[in-house]
Amino acid sequence: MIEPVVSNASPVADILDLVREDLRDFAGYASARSVALQGDVWLNANESAWANPADPHAACRRYPDPQPARLRAALAGLYGCTAEQLLLGRGSDEAIDLLVRALCRPGRDAVVATPPVFGMYAVSARLQGAPLVEVPLVEEAEGFAPDLGAVANAALQHGAKLVFLCSPANPTGRAIALSEIEVLARRLAGRAVVVVDEAYGEFSDEPSATRLLSAHANLAVLRTLSKAHALAAARIGVVMADAALIGVLRRCQAPYPIPAPCTELALAAVAPEALAQTAQRVLAVREQRERLTSALAALPGVRRVYPSQGNFLLVRFHDAEAAFAALLAAGVVVRDQRAAPQLGDALRITIGSAEQNDRVLSALSLLEAAA
Ligand SMILES: Cc1ncc(COP(=O)(O)O)c(C=O)c1O
Repeated sequence: MIEPVVSNASPVADILDLVREDLRDFAGYASARSVALQGDVWLNANESAWANPADPHAACRRYPDPQPARLRAALAGLYGCTAEQLLLGRGSDEAIDLLVRALCRPGRDAVVATPPVFGMYAVSARLQGAPLVEVPLVEEAEGFAPDLGAVANAALQHGAKLVFLCSPANPTGRAIALSEIEVLARRLAGRAVVVVDEAYGEFSDEPSATRLLSAHANLAVLRTLSKAHALAAARIGVVMADAALIGVLRRCQAPYPIPAPCTELALAAVAPEALAQTAQRVLAVREQRERLTSALAALPGVRRVYPSQGNFLLVRFHDAEAAFAALLAAGVVVRDQRAAPQLGDALRITIGSAEQNDRVLSALSLLEAAA
């Protein structure tokens, strides 16, 4: 059970206190595009004066705006925060890396993660030399869930600066109630930033944690265009947090994170008609998720299908090796989870189209029950 702790400190002072001291007044790289100058002949960035024939409209001749204002405003509107609370980056992978680098001193400030979970939290911690504290998910009747009391205790005990929660969780599928996230954020106020990775948020019944941002300076939320919006190759993700923390992350970010063609793609993807189509695809995924969940659960070779709020299912098999091989023989590639803790007999299957899911079911239908 987590006891709420009320912090009296100013939220902005709090949040900058959590940033690495040596980076608090770090100005970062002043790129040619970040300096506000006026003129009509731009000779300040060693760009070409002529377009490439591959780029007839010269859309890529100049370096792009580091944080394209129209896209920033559009995504802030979509996710429900202000533009100042949002940083665009190279997928949410970059946001994870920036958070770890800005908050954790190598060898000192820990990162808390809840395995089995998306691997980039541990990878970024390792690259930064930040100690990784793992608080395993607990398997309950409804599936895997984080023990947030244990997470808070571990964060405080190890002096963690960052806690990564994944909701809905990859690969286990469950979402965390906002009320629980709020209690954790309050408990860790002034001590650590709670990051809620909502890469699969569009597929979930749980509302987004962005609605908690204004009340909790030590909260950050990650979203991406890679999943529901079907733009994984455009590499657009965002971190939303207190504007002071966003300012720090921006100064730590490598220059020009968003290629101009990707900005155009992303803007088109969040125009009303495209958003309506995205909503239709999300609906189709949710329908197929339900269908696949019950069809898989009825197969003799399947031990357990976990309820999922994402666009994938975590499935335990009596013989996961045989299941993986049967799928591969049918040309279907799924994610092998057997090396992950607690998942020695599990595969993660992304929800595909109805036809693709039929192929999954037909390949797995020949598996046998446990001896
Ligand atoms: C939970 C989670 N977070 C973040 C990411 C990375 O997404 P992006 O493509 O935005 O870097 C993934 C990718 O699979 C993911 O599963």
